[in-house]
Amino acid sequence: MTSNTAISEQAREILITNDRGGYTVPTAGLYPYQWNWDSAVAALGFAQFDVDRAWVEIETLFKGQWADGMVPHILFHKSDPGYFPGPDVWGCEGPIPSSGIIQPPIAATMARFVWEQDKGLGRERLAALYPKMVKWHNWIMRWRLHRGAVCTTHPWETGRDNAPDWDNTMARMDASDVGEYTRRDTAHVNSDDRPTKYDYDRYIKLVQMGRRLNWDQAAMLAESPFRVADPTMTFTTLRAARDLQVIGEALGEDTSGIAASIELLVTGAETLWNEELGGYDSRDVLSGEWAGCLSNASYLCWFAGVENAKMLARLRDVMTRVPFPVPSNDPNAESFDARRYWRGPTWAVVNLLIGIGLEDMGHKTEAKALADKTAGLIKEHGFAEYFDPMNGKAAGGGTFTWTAAVWLAWAGRD
Ligand code: DGY
Repeated sequence: MTSNTAISEQAREILITNDRGGYTVPTAGLYPYQWNWDSAVAALGFAQFDVDRAWVEIETLFKGQWADGMVPHILFHKSDPGYFPGPDVWGCEGPIPSSGIIQPPIAATMARFVWEQDKGLGRERLAALYPKMVKWHNWIMRWRLHRGAVCTTHPWETGRDNAPDWDNTMARMDASDVGEYTRRDTAHVNSDDRPTKYDYDRYIKLVQMGRRLNWDQAAMLAESPFRVADPTMTFTTLRAARDLQVIGEALGEDTSGIAASIELLVTGAETLWNEELGGYDSRDVLSGEWAGCLSNASYLCWFAGVENAKMLARLRDVMTRVPFPVPSNDPNAESFDARRYWRGPTWAVVNLLIGIGLEDMGHKTEAKALADKTAGLIKEHGFAEYFDPMNGKAAGGGTFTWTAAVWLAWAGRD
């Protein structure tokens, strides 16, 4: 069995190899650009051995911030024909060629962790980033709230691309006129691990609509058939607000606006409680319908500082039924598929966020059990993008940046 020290060495090597100079790609080939939440986790990984480089990662991400405050989900620093849809399809006009949607806003949380690694070095870097992070937070609060919960306008925004959460909403969309396009993802990895063509047509259809509307949030709000209040966006935004409050106070800023956000988001989080499901769920704000999905995002309540005894019971239950860490979909669900991306596989990164939340909220036993399970998975099956939760087999891309970061910052710690 390889020692933890040797695995940590491999993890550092992955971060260094995926470094493209100021930003890190999630993995070569499949994802050749800077992805928003991947990058935030990369910063946490770098912070374990190179704090300066960790700051650079977040600073580069915010160089792509739009004038209105939005921070895009992908920054296309250098064009790469191996990825679709590239900048020509998105047609965006930010300071760096980019996509027109966001991703879970965990950058503020990761910036707080990087700062805590070395407060002396970090204060100036943090002070420079703070207004930008607040501006992004305010953008989300302005454009994405529904009854205090945060909505996604594209499955890619949540990071959980083909989660069953979106099935009902996607079924109401007509993508018959999407036209011809060539996917690149299935040229890099096994197509059974990836979303289906049915899903992809709808992803591209939404991109085409956003582009036609010039990525104008008001126009998209009026026209888009896809608007879902979801636990990923809501819990990560609430967590980010709490971290921005801590950061703001440390910097001597007035944080009353952030305190108001927190209050509103706490109320919004409870609008995601589906009593019939017995869990935090996604709700389509246009149809009012619940998704009926217990996903890994349902367990992000603690990450957001939201306590819930029923969720804790569910967590204990899923951890006894599944040999590997919390899966992206409940194995009892009809839609469960152990290999297909966000319909069943386990993702180290979401387990990191769940684990941080459990630890913060005092659930030390569960936090440790989850970290140990995640460490065991990585030790046995490597730094894959995601894993079959029943047998641990690696799936998707390999030598993955955030899986390496999860090992360094959490699972592989002594
Ligand atoms: C992809 O290309 O699969 C990404 O998830 C989009 O962000």
